[in-house]
Amino acid sequence: MTLNGKSRKKHFFNRKENIMKTRFTFFSVLAVLFTAALAPVGAAKAVGIFKKGPYLQQVTQTSIVIMWETDVASDSRVDYGSSDSYGESETDDTLVNVKIHEIGLDGLIANTKYYYKVTSDNVTDDGVEATGDPYTFTTAPEGDQYFCFVAYGDTRTYPEDHAKVIAAIINSSPAIVIHTGDLVANGNDPDQWGPQFFTPAYPLMTNTPMFPVLGNHEYNDKGETLFFDFFSLPDNEQKNEQWYSFTYGCVQFIALDTNTNVDYSPGSPQYIWLEKELNYSATWRIVYFHHPPYTRTSGHEDDEDVKRDLVPLFENKVDMVFSGHSHAYERYFNEGVYYIVTGGGGAPLHRPLKDKNIPIRQVGEKEYHHCVIDVDSESLTLSARDNDGNEFDTITIKSGQSTLDMHVHDIDMSYKVAGPNHSGIATICIKDTSGTNVKGATVSGKWSWPDLVDEAVSGITGVDGEVKLQSSKIKSGGIFTFTVTNVVDSVYTYNSELNEETSDSIDVP
Ligand SMILES: [Fe+2]
Repeated sequence: MTLNGKSRKKHFFNRKENIMKTRFTFFSVLAVLFTAALAPVGAAKAVGIFKKGPYLQQVTQTSIVIMWETDVASDSRVDYGSSDSYGESETDDTLVNVKIHEIGLDGLIANTKYYYKVTSDNVTDDGVEATGDPYTFTTAPEGDQYFCFVAYGDTRTYPEDHAKVIAAIINSSPAIVIHTGDLVANGNDPDQWGPQFFTPAYPLMTNTPMFPVLGNHEYNDKGETLFFDFFSLPDNEQKNEQWYSFTYGCVQFIALDTNTNVDYSPGSPQYIWLEKELNYSATWRIVYFHHPPYTRTSGHEDDEDVKRDLVPLFENKVDMVFSGHSHAYERYFNEGVYYIVTGGGGAPLHRPLKDKNIPIRQVGEKEYHHCVIDVDSESLTLSARDNDGNEFDTITIKSGQSTLDMHVHDIDMSYKVAGPNHSGIATICIKDTSGTNVKGATVSGKWSWPDLVDEAVSGITGVDGEVKLQSSKIKSGGIFTFTVTNVVDSVYTYNSELNEETSDSIDVP
């Protein structure tokens, strides 16, 4: 598929074979010195000598793509190696006189740090060769190794705010970054991509590969976009980069295009491709796209098309879904899947409104932020952080445990004595495997005390996941013991093996 006759870069990799189909670029001459303008907080400098970049794309265990843009057509070279003396270089002699440069490196070693620099001839005002600053990249880890990635989005319009988010992301030290779309206000305008996106993101993207998806502002209602010129992303079976997948460590990432000019309904090429991707085995699976199925802010409400066509595919197949579009942070949970809205990357913020649709939002914050995800084969932890690095939401999922399992997190014992009447009180807290309170679960248990045993009681948990269950009133004190016998919920399954406590006692005077 071709969009509006725009020539699009072909991707270099077959993800499943992890092989690079090398098409190294080597272009030729010309000149321009690009100087810095914007100074992001915490960054040494905003831009180097090139118009854009260099920036990293499509990292795998054995390969990576390096891109940059020059003001005038030129050739290009990447020097790289395991030390800052480099030792290897790569060029492409099949393309000459290009402004957007794209060099692929392969034959690399997994989980290894490399140094690199890029050079284009005669790019300076003096007509001499321009060599950028030295940078580093690190190849993808082996399957089970720990790594950290960041999700963020909606970076358009306010580059100063985008630069602050970028500085905060750098402090979180992700291995890769996924972007939920709306990178710039008008994706057809070549003059916006530098100031709104690449200049603020430069300090991050020189060392950290980014995998973006298309937002509505990339197409800008015209069905056209320069997105494909500036990014080198994996192809899908349609041989385009609108939707794609890649594996990094123990995570399969699936990136979709949910724009109205793109079909993702059942039977469409994107839908059929997605169904196939969801059937591959993966320790963790993350899906991301621009339009959230669940959101309620001053900007947007639930995307009904995404909810109808895509959400039914995710149950039991996907661990976490990231979207943007609403310029805020929101966390939803539905049928075992977390739906995170992360659209606080620089665009004017939206205010979360009181939710009225099921599932009801668990967390909503009007905040510039990014999401940090720490992951290994055992667990996946999401941490939402503001620009000062403060964590304002976190959840953890354990591998092999259904997120729909619930258990007794705590039993807090107290008592009541009123005149001759003595009774025990147990406050039981029910949580799911991510640590989220389970509301509406029916907790059954039994009380025993001196001379009497097994008084059955039950009650329903509130929004805090807690329910108070009181024994009958008796005429003397002693040891009162409460034991949980069952927990029932229409969505969650009670897994008593995960109980942190099942029984507790209190001495009532
Ligand atoms: Fe949007």
